[in-house]
Amino acid sequence: MLTVKWENNSVVLIDQTKLPNKLEYVKCKNYEEVAEAIKKLVVRGAPAIGVTAAFGLALAAQASNAKTKDGLMTDLDIAFKVLRATRPTAINLFWALNRVMGKAKKAKTRDGAKKVVLDEALKMSNEDINANRQIGANGSKLFLDGDIVLTHCNAGSLATVAYGTALGVIRAARESGKRLSVIVTETRPVMQGSRLTAFELQHDGIDVSLIPDTAVGHMMSRGAIKRVIVGADRVLRTGHVFNKIGTYQVAILANKHKVPFYVAAPLSTFDFESNPSDVVIEERSVDEVIKIGKKRIAPRRVRVFNPAFDMTPPDLITGIITERGVLKPPFVKSLKALLG
Ligand code: MRU
Repeated sequence: MLTVKWENNSVVLIDQTKLPNKLEYVKCKNYEEVAEAIKKLVVRGAPAIGVTAAFGLALAAQASNAKTKDGLMTDLDIAFKVLRATRPTAINLFWALNRVMGKAKKAKTRDGAKKVVLDEALKMSNEDINANRQIGANGSKLFLDGDIVLTHCNAGSLATVAYGTALGVIRAARESGKRLSVIVTETRPVMQGSRLTAFELQHDGIDVSLIPDTAVGHMMSRGAIKRVIVGADRVLRTGHVFNKIGTYQVAILANKHKVPFYVAAPLSTFDFESNPSDVVIEERSVDEVIKIGKKRIAPRRVRVFNPAFDMTPPDLITGIITERGVLKPPFVKSLKALLG
């Protein structure tokens, strides 16, 4: 089951807004539909967003009637701008779009550029699955048989093309014969934990329990959580990790209770240029907070803040698991060594 795939000249996505009640697919036939799907969280999770956007450019290339290479590049640039404005925090979106545009620019002819855009998007899709498998292999060594592991949000198969990053590590640990139990936070307000992670783990027969976000401290104080593993939307060269809102407070609690806190992320999620204050934290609709489904759960006119991500500083992180190896603090140094 692939979260995103290229099929019959369209982009096919699992509709994550319908899970866990219905497993339905959405077919995007043009880049505008792809952009809408990313905005509405039909597809979400940093690596999945990146690959989907790359396929969006492939749709734009396919639809272009331009007669020349320059004309095609103008059409691609319009699509590029629309796609890059969909969500601001996950770096994979910008990484994927820049990579595909770079390849298109280098092509000599219009037809060559059209072909390379799709080839590159397909390549990225395969690379994502391989990177996740490798993250799994590297990370599973850090987990012990019988561990009770907490994860926040969904960094699973549904957040990537397949297999997942944080959940990929859990899958790999299980494949190596370790029995792990997973505790999932609901992840208010969009409920990626209860709707997606609980669904995904249950589907794979992995032991899973759901807790309210507010129960993390209590569970840790009772010794009921042995390790934490989460994904990331952006990792800075300093080891600052941007991830789903609530990650920071889980990291503080883990630190207080001496529970190792791991981040699993492919190198496509690393941002080697930005400083913490440069990163835009997405602010989402107030409706996500004041309503559950269609039912209002807050008074009218109440002021609402709804930041979708937060930043966990490096001093709270035990290790960052990548496809090339596990980074240990100090991250500036270990990242330099890893990249050679
Ligand atoms: O708003 P979302 O659902 O796109 O946020 C997703 C996350 O925060 C994930 O933890 C992150 O993208 C890592 S996915 C491997």
